[in-house]
Amino acid sequence: MIYIKPSYFELAWLLSMTSVASVIHCPPNPPVEGQTPMTLARGVMPDLGPAFREGLRKYKEERALQGTVARPPRSLRTPHQAALQDDESRSKVAFCGRRAGKTLGMVLYAADCMASMPGCLVLYVGITRNAARDIIWRAFKALSNQHKWGLSFHESDLRAYHPNGSQFVIMGSDKEPEIEKARGPEKIALAIVDECQSHKPFNLRYLVEDVLEPGLMDLDGTLVLSGTPGLVPTGFWYDVTTGARKGWSVHSWTAKDNPHLAVPFETFIERVKEKRGWDDNNPILRREYYREWIRDESRLVYPFDASRNIYKDVTPDKSWTIVLAMDFGFVHSTAWAVMGYPKYGDVVYVLRSFKRAGQTPDDVASQTAKLVDEWSPDIIIGDLGGLGKAYAAQFEQRYRIPIRAANKRDKRGSIEYVANALLTGKILSNEGNTTLHQEWLSLVWDDLHEDIAEGQDDHEADAVMYGYKETPAYLCQLEPKQREIDGLPPWVDREDDDHEIPQPHWGEVDDMY
Ligand SMILES: Nc1ncnc2c1ncn2[C@@H]1O[C@H](COP(=O)(O)OP(=O)(O)OP(=O)(O)O)[C@@H](O)[C@H]1O
Ligand SMILES: [Mg+2]
Repeated sequence: MIYIKPSYFELAWLLSMTSVASVIHCPPNPPVEGQTPMTLARGVMPDLGPAFREGLRKYKEERALQGTVARPPRSLRTPHQAALQDDESRSKVAFCGRRAGKTLGMVLYAADCMASMPGCLVLYVGITRNAARDIIWRAFKALSNQHKWGLSFHESDLRAYHPNGSQFVIMGSDKEPEIEKARGPEKIALAIVDECQSHKPFNLRYLVEDVLEPGLMDLDGTLVLSGTPGLVPTGFWYDVTTGARKGWSVHSWTAKDNPHLAVPFETFIERVKEKRGWDDNNPILRREYYREWIRDESRLVYPFDASRNIYKDVTPDKSWTIVLAMDFGFVHSTAWAVMGYPKYGDVVYVLRSFKRAGQTPDDVASQTAKLVDEWSPDIIIGDLGGLGKAYAAQFEQRYRIPIRAANKRDKRGSIEYVANALLTGKILSNEGNTTLHQEWLSLVWDDLHEDIAEGQDDHEADAVMYGYKETPAYLCQLEPKQREIDGLPPWVDREDDDHEIPQPHWGEVDDMY
């Protein structure tokens, strides 16, 4: 016979439930509804102090909950929260203004899913694990205790367990190993990505399409993305919310539709407008409260203007100096920019620019070799920090062509040089360089205005920046008067012209690496 030693708490529980206990205790009145085993047990068990009483209380609570686990009633949800949850699509979006009830809607959705699908996994992904915990953990715990959902919350691994075996897990998308955890063996019934506007755009796309979506196969699970408009109207989240990326069922509402706020939406808005001197066109108002995608010009890094900075029909001849500039990356894209400038003049042309993700050093070497064949660059430069060294080494080994280290000093100053050149029309870009133009149109400063804000895809812009720093075009070399007399256009070479490759004007860079 197996003898299992009961704990104090189990003994207390048993005693409190036996008729002997009731006889000994002889309560003056029969137990009434709401009287807990705790009050009964107190009469027959020796009082072992507050720690014992607290332990006993928790034990009773857990036991009691296991028998009375509830599903969140529909009445808890606002109409928009209910519409999102009841939508049968497997890919849903909550695109809302601030305080609309996105996160609380997700808590109710998660709790319902856990209760209705025993043994399932519900994932909640925030920007970082800590941010996710701050946003949802406490609210989830409070609601679970209040409504008796029966969940037990484990702080150490930020997991909540349902008595039916379902689990709720919190993750952050900021670190790759963290994202990779979503590839675990558990069957995902519901994956929620909250605050989508603040995830790094590349991470968000990778997380959603490469990691989460395949993980939903076992249970034909559901993916829900939630958030407000981001700072720049571009990227994966923008495409999903605007319908440019197909297959997402978008639900959109504002705080006006949230009946749980202390003050009516309109009253609050009027107060904010008055306090901050805003009119209805204020970009923060429109973005944060009315969930509109706004292009906030004041934060843009590059003053790119298609009517000023795009050229058509210019073909370099052999008098031009050609620079091939590269920004290397594996997970992030590797970008190539072929730039050129005629012997005289102060305009630099971005002849070709593009980027590719997931390139091995071998792929990069082959692609670079193709460009070398096509353009015969006079200078090849690349960002040789970090992984870049391996890429450059592979290329140099295979093709015996050296790559010069790009000058990466003074990033802020370098960005300003390019920005100024764009503003004054000194950089022109081929109309086919669409991904470069997208970067220029969307990149925004970080809060300190020191660098491009984190998480933006700026690789082509960086490659152009490295290339531009190698050109002496800013020196504004004017063509000798004689040319005008000869009636020759600036780019036509004359027999007696020397073709010298100008030296970089940003000083020597070799000492940096
Ligand atoms: N169904 C609900 N029942 C009770 N309160 C709710 C409900 N939905 C939202 N709320 C309350 O409304 C407020 C805003 O909700 P929530 O935090 O979910 O909004 P949000 O859209 O995620 O906000 P943010 O944009 O700041 O992330 C909170 O006080 C929340 O408790
Ligand atoms: Mg929220």
